[in-house]
Amino acid sequence: MQEIKKYVSDNQQRFLDELFELLRYPSVSADPKYKEDVLKTADYVADKLKEAGADQVEVCQTAGYPIIYGEKIIDPDKPTVLVYGHYDVQPPDPLELWKTPPFEPTVRDGKIYARGACDDKGQFYMHVKAFELMMRTNTLPCNIKFMIEGEEEVGSNNLGIFVKDNKERLKSDVVLISDTSMISLDHPSLETGLRGLSYIEVEVTGPNRDLHSGVYGGAVANPATILAKLIASLHDENNHIQIPGFYDDVLALSEQEREDLNKAPYDEEEYKKDLGVDELWGEKGYTTLERTGTRPTLEVNGIWGGYIGEGAKTVLPSKANAKISMRLVPNQQSEKITKLFTDHFQKIAPKNVKVTVTPHHGGEPVVTPTDSIAYKAAQKAIFDSFGKEPIPTRGGGSIPIVALFEKELGIKTVLMGFGLDSDNLHSPNEKYDIANYYKGIETIPLFHKYFAELSK
Ligand code: BES
Ligand code: MN
Ligand code: MN
Repeated sequence: MQEIKKYVSDNQQRFLDELFELLRYPSVSADPKYKEDVLKTADYVADKLKEAGADQVEVCQTAGYPIIYGEKIIDPDKPTVLVYGHYDVQPPDPLELWKTPPFEPTVRDGKIYARGACDDKGQFYMHVKAFELMMRTNTLPCNIKFMIEGEEEVGSNNLGIFVKDNKERLKSDVVLISDTSMISLDHPSLETGLRGLSYIEVEVTGPNRDLHSGVYGGAVANPATILAKLIASLHDENNHIQIPGFYDDVLALSEQEREDLNKAPYDEEEYKKDLGVDELWGEKGYTTLERTGTRPTLEVNGIWGGYIGEGAKTVLPSKANAKISMRLVPNQQSEKITKLFTDHFQKIAPKNVKVTVTPHHGGEPVVTPTDSIAYKAAQKAIFDSFGKEPIPTRGGGSIPIVALFEKELGIKTVLMGFGLDSDNLHSPNEKYDIANYYKGIETIPLFHKYFAELSK
């Protein structure tokens, strides 16, 4: 522990400088205008892995953005940890809401502000630096493989193919991911589940062209009004989702599981204050922690149509659109839910408009074991570095590839995230506490140490 702390403190400025350099690359996977930048980011990550001491480093080409692979095999008889992360980030817009530019990392109040600071550059880079530390101090206790992808934020479409084609190369005993949240540095926690996802786009078309809203208004159905009604009908007065069959496969939590889950520290007043809302919203009969961690939900992610420019233009739009996501919980299946949504949405559409439903990416929910050697190693590592037992929590977000690792490689994942839910992921002013960054670098070598020890 002393050796770890010493290495981190001796190198702290460089660790920060390198992360800043990584954060300066605008590696937005969703927008093709950043293509060159995303590719440069991949090269930077590969260089840094090499510098840290990884062998077989390769920028693996895919039909989309490359996947960076690297490994250090110290002894084939020792256990192997597969570290997964992503170097792509979400689009930074709306730009005007950033206090400092998204790709010029800036420290304020001990926090690094930049797109990707927490999700996931700041977090996966901790693993690169922890690996460097273990290499330089001659303390790497097990084999390690890295797989850092560039399409997580757009659904990891090519990663599934890569995993299927590289089963031997990726063969490992556990996947270790830092791409989730913990409660706080005072309340370290480990996420033990992730929700699945169905993502859908809908388009409602009325008249064959935009119309003068005075000349035609009152005679023709307005697609924006119809879309609003359709969307509003998807929840009832208890905020229960109204798609027939939607809840059929959801497993109810036992009273014991609910009790355990609700033991996690949670201050509703603080939560509301942080978000600037006077009241919370959600499915009746469940606490906030249950609603975000263990219940399926449906959200509108974007809605548009008609005139949205400056001033007022009187127009009855021809089309209105929305992007809708559903978060799924264990035993629900993304494809099935997408079909239930599609059928329902088509069915409730009135005859005065046409509705098209286009599925985007999806992903399956997961629960991770809490009785495995790897989970115990994470618990011990956190206990050593934080002086407290981690609290198990259920995360509301999705990392679809986790279910795929289980299916294709037959291995489970440990979600050892060091971010905070309030780090503004996917939102303006994304941040990551410098303290969490260093804490992560200190904790990761302990995970490897205990994983190797407990595997004996
Ligand atoms: N790192 C997040 C997921 C996450 C965040 C899990 C916080 C738990 C806590 C990941 O990068 C992400 O944003 N995933 C997407 C899904 C993906 C298919 C676009 C998501 O959850 O919306
Ligand atoms: Mn992420
Ligand atoms: Mn993300």
